[in-house]
Amino acid sequence: MSLLEAPLVVASNRGPVTFDRDDLGGLDARRGAGGLVTALIGAMQRVDGLWVAAASSDTDRELAAGLDGGRVDMERFGADYRVRLLDIPPERYDAYYNRISNGILWFVHHYLWDTVRQPIFDDEVDEAWNEYVAVNRRFAEALAEEADRSPTPPAFLVQDYHLTLVPRFLRELRPDAFIAHFSHTAIAGLTYMRILPGRVREGILRGMLGADVLGFHSQMWAENFLMSARSLPGVRADLARSRLSVEGRQVAVRIHPISIDAVGLRQEAAGPEVTALRRELNRWRGDTRLILRVDRLELTKNIVRGFQAYALFLRTHPEWHRRVRFLALLSPSRMDVPDYLTYGEECVAEAQRVNTEFGDEEWQPVEVRVRDDYLGALAAYGISDVLLVNPIYDGMNLVAMEGPLLNRRAGVLVLSRNAGAYWRLGKHALAVNPFDLRETADALYRALEMPREERIRRARGLSRLVLSNPAERWVRTQLEDLERARIRRRTPSPEPAARA
Ligand code: ADP
Ligand code: F6P
Repeated sequence: MSLLEAPLVVASNRGPVTFDRDDLGGLDARRGAGGLVTALIGAMQRVDGLWVAAASSDTDRELAAGLDGGRVDMERFGADYRVRLLDIPPERYDAYYNRISNGILWFVHHYLWDTVRQPIFDDEVDEAWNEYVAVNRRFAEALAEEADRSPTPPAFLVQDYHLTLVPRFLRELRPDAFIAHFSHTAIAGLTYMRILPGRVREGILRGMLGADVLGFHSQMWAENFLMSARSLPGVRADLARSRLSVEGRQVAVRIHPISIDAVGLRQEAAGPEVTALRRELNRWRGDTRLILRVDRLELTKNIVRGFQAYALFLRTHPEWHRRVRFLALLSPSRMDVPDYLTYGEECVAEAQRVNTEFGDEEWQPVEVRVRDDYLGALAAYGISDVLLVNPIYDGMNLVAMEGPLLNRRAGVLVLSRNAGAYWRLGKHALAVNPFDLRETADALYRALEMPREERIRRARGLSRLVLSNPAERWVRTQLEDLERARIRRRTPSPEPAARA
């Protein structure tokens, strides 16, 4: 049977929803935060698959310990797939998620360290790494169990930097498994990757190389991975075909930009709740133009520099005072990582500085709302004039797609060249170097002053591009890759010549 029809098993740290009990003891499902969940919910909508994820609430853990091994049918929540929750002891989870995944791997891939002082690797990091290994092993075992329960071999789609070791462990357990791994983050270049201790660096690269196919959102990240992987002893690279060979196996490196569920999103945005929120926001903004940003409260999103650039714009263009407002919708994220707490305070303080310098009783130039407010974000997308997406580095950035898709005012997208989304959307956006305040301030000015025809042309170009890449394609293209890998396995080709 072709893998295009094979049962699908997805694994990610964060599941599509977190479960809670309502007052009557029934199950409530809260949507998980972040781009991976948004994209995968869209991609899985029409696929009858199983999604394996770590339990994250008390109710999740209760379900994970239940009779059906943590399996929950999502049909009652209007979805076609099932979820399987894995219960991981809290201390182990803390080391794997906070210390290693978000404290080290996220930092390296987004170039977040101030390397004069950080990072320092010591015995504690070594111990946390052992927990990361243990959690990855637990996921691999769960996936191997799913292979045993499945009447035909499944296609495994393993997600992101939390689970880099799963492909290798699963390969050890089920050598014939068909495994794709996808990175939703940016990927560090060869020399920055060398900051990591050898055991960690080799571990994650060789772990990923256990897959048949490795996917990335953009060419920049795929190239960075290839450069690091081919520097490992015993790994040979065929750069022309974007393939690596290791331990007698072939690993394809592919670029599959993820997208959003445009139909579902538009339906949600047309609903009564979002309509009411849009009305409220319109009243709040009055007759000012609206600059919007929508982000997890996240170090990579470059929120502080965004406010600094806005301040520079206001300083340079007093004629815009009182005619513009900046709304920042920030969803709290990873609050157990100390840098995120500090950064949240810095964001709010920077916004206050702008308000103190330029605002008065009648005009508050910036408003920051720190809460998880997905529907509020959908409402705000509809009415903004400028959407600022200026991450330092970003694997993809779905906000850059959601905004243009829902916008009703021919809004302009100001987009960092270091976001994966730039690769596809850049030509219709105003591009900025995220570190360059002057360039960002000028882009805000240009966006606000842009003639209507140009705004319409760019806005149409953006939504056309988003619509031309439906969310389901992302799953389908990975299954096609896996199917090619399956055929290759049956007819082994000669090893690629070493070009490293
Ligand atoms: P990341 O993967 O780093 O979280 P993305 O831009 O790819 O970044 O995806 C972020 C997702 O989280 C989007 O679907 C966006 O709508 C959602 N989101 C961002 N900010 C908020 C917020 N303040 N409240 C609710 N959802 C948000
Ligand atoms: O899209 C990148 C990503 O890191 C996902 O892996 C993750 O689920 C999302 O951002 C949000 O982060 P977290 O799961 O740590 O809240």
